[in-house]
Amino acid sequence: MANENIKVLIDEKTLAKRIAEIGAQITKEHAGREVILVPVLKGSFMFAADLARAIDLPTNIEFLGLQSYAGTKSTGVVQITSDLTRSVADKDVIIIEDIVDTGLTMTYLLENLQTRKPRSLKIASLLHKPARSKVHVDIDYLGFTIEDVFVIGYGLDYDGRYRNLPYVGVLEL
Ligand code: IMP
Repeated sequence: MANENIKVLIDEKTLAKRIAEIGAQITKEHAGREVILVPVLKGSFMFAADLARAIDLPTNIEFLGLQSYAGTKSTGVVQITSDLTRSVADKDVIIIEDIVDTGLTMTYLLENLQTRKPRSLKIASLLHKPARSKVHVDIDYLGFTIEDVFVIGYGLDYDGRYRNLPYVGVLEL
């Protein structure tokens, strides 16, 4: 999109390289097991598609629809808009998120999914913005730590837009 002022923060090549590494790590650490990938919609759809292809294991994918954000401010109010379609009891589950910002969404998700008694529950997040953390979250598989900037692209949106950019960028308003 050759419009607006978008600064590239993480380019396609850098994303692909790091995601291949995370996929290899997940494959190694879950060798001999099946993993249930749980991408959190909508923001993680692109990361999840690339990460899933970098994992060499039997997998199932169960999408979870969440709404937790309005504009650029985290509200901490989380709503499940579309739930998993099957039980994850006794399964090895990996939540796939686009970004852990305040940590409120992930904390809610962890608590919610733990009640479903998975055998293991891990988090893969493409991005982490520690400067805005309100609750500590242990991210098992992290792509990149970023500064306190609002990012768009590669699945991330600003009011619903920019999710289709192939890189992570900063919108200079
Ligand atoms: P948290 O609850 O504050 O950790 O926010 C989590 C959710 O807010 C993420 O899954 C994103 O959907 C959204 N979010 C947080 N920071 C950004 C950003 O910089 N750009 C786009 N979405 C963001």
